[in-house]
Amino acid sequence: MKSGLNYAVAVVLLVTASLAWSAEEEGTLAEYQPVMSEEFKEMLRNASPDAGKESFMRKCSSCHDHKQKGGHGKGPHLWNIIGRKAGSMPGFTYSDAMRNSGHTWTLDTLNYYLTKTDRAVPGRIMNFRGIRKDSDRAELLAFMRMINDNPPPLP
Ligand code: HEC
Repeated sequence: MKSGLNYAVAVVLLVTASLAWSAEEEGTLAEYQPVMSEEFKEMLRNASPDAGKESFMRKCSSCHDHKQKGGHGKGPHLWNIIGRKAGSMPGFTYSDAMRNSGHTWTLDTLNYYLTKTDRAVPGRIMNFRGIRKDSDRAELLAFMRMINDNPPPLP
């Protein structure tokens, strides 16, 4: 009986440890390739780009221009952001962290970055923490997909 209990305790400890381990694997975009969950993909397919634009205007437009013929502000010009290598717009001075992150912006990496910007790119100089609510982020991404010469397909 007692050893059965010990066994159960050991299993619980092991499971807890491996959960903690997998959480740690979610690292920086320089070393971790995030993938959207199926639930989030579904949310993104149903999200309103108009609602996303409103949220962009409120949360991002003080620093970022989203128009095709736009330019840099406090943050880099975001037209064609999806498909572009991070930190690569000519004429904008990025942090070393962003320039060296070495990944290309996709719906998956943008979603991960916008969840918690300092986890994705520690040392980033974008003074914005992130958007924790999935449905808000899905709307924003539905809009950011459209500010592109060739909008990428929905997942
Ligand atoms: C206070 C100003 C500010 C706000 C607000 C802000 N950003 Fe930024 N953003 C920046 C700066 C500065 C950088 C460059 C970061 C670096 O080099 O580390 C950046 C970088 C980025 C990048 C990477 C660009 C590239 O060329 O690789 C994306 C994508 C981005 N921001 C999206 C957003 C979105 C979406 C929002 C709104 C939810 C937002 N930002 C809000 C200032 C801001």
